[in-house]
Amino acid sequence: MLRSMATTGAPLLFILLLAASTATLAADPDALQDICVADLNNTIKVNGFVCKPAAAVTAEDFAFKGLAKPAVINNTLGAVVTVANVEKIPGLNTLGVSLARIDFAPGGLNPPHTHPRATETVFVLYGALDVGFITTANKLINKTIVVGETFVFPRGLVHFQKNNGDKAAAVISGFNSQLPGTQPIAAALFSASPPVPDNVLSKAFQISTKEVEKIKSRFAPKS
Ligand SMILES: *[C@@H]1O[C@H](CO)[C@@H](O)[C@H](O)[C@H]1NC(C)=O
Ligand SMILES: *[C@@H]1O[C@H](CO)[C@@H](O)[C@H](O)[C@H]1NC(C)=O
Ligand SMILES: *[C@@H]1O[C@H](CO)[C@@H](O)[C@H](O)[C@H]1NC(C)=O
Repeated sequence: MLRSMATTGAPLLFILLLAASTATLAADPDALQDICVADLNNTIKVNGFVCKPAAAVTAEDFAFKGLAKPAVINNTLGAVVTVANVEKIPGLNTLGVSLARIDFAPGGLNPPHTHPRATETVFVLYGALDVGFITTANKLINKTIVVGETFVFPRGLVHFQKNNGDKAAAVISGFNSQLPGTQPIAAALFSASPPVPDNVLSKAFQISTKEVEKIKSRFAPKS
């Protein structure tokens, strides 16, 4: 009897431990107080930002107007991301969420990238987008989404959004991190500083170092 309880108890304990460990891996850590408005100027670095004194906290620390209007699209890709993370809204510090707005010209692309710390949900404000992500099994999951629709990009997976229409498009993105981080794949590989060695990229992409240099030149800062 005792023995059977012990043997049924062990898997239960294992499941509870697993649940607890996946919970801590799932998103930013939980807050330990109601508010901890980021003191963005503080040189002390913690996992997040130091809280500014409660007496200095105002409603403005929790507010942001930056997503209200379409961004001016002035880059070659034709898409601009405006973030509303802890760096813009200090009141988000320790709360584990943030937003962004992405504006797309016709043909605009938010190129393949990952967010190391967050799952992203996009909500289409207007226009239509062809979106997709790639699983670690190398399967493309893609779809066209239109105004009012939502799509999810799981944490850490490579994903993109493309406006294949002839009208402007825009989305609001929600993240389960105060600072999701963004790593554009092409830029990470072809414009890192110092550069990723040509022979690494040549072998990885099965192309000549000359072709690697050509791609790198496209990412060189224009002066
Ligand atoms: C940080 O410092 C700058 C300039 O010293 C100041 O304008 C700004 O209000 C400070 N920000 C915070 C969050 O304290
Ligand atoms: C695009 O416009 C923004 C905001 O006006 C500006 O900060 C940025 O430097 C511009 N980028 C380019 C490539 O001109
Ligand atoms: C999804 O990807 C397939 C394969 O590349 C492509 O043929 C299709 O047009 C894409 N669909 C959308 C909605 O982007």
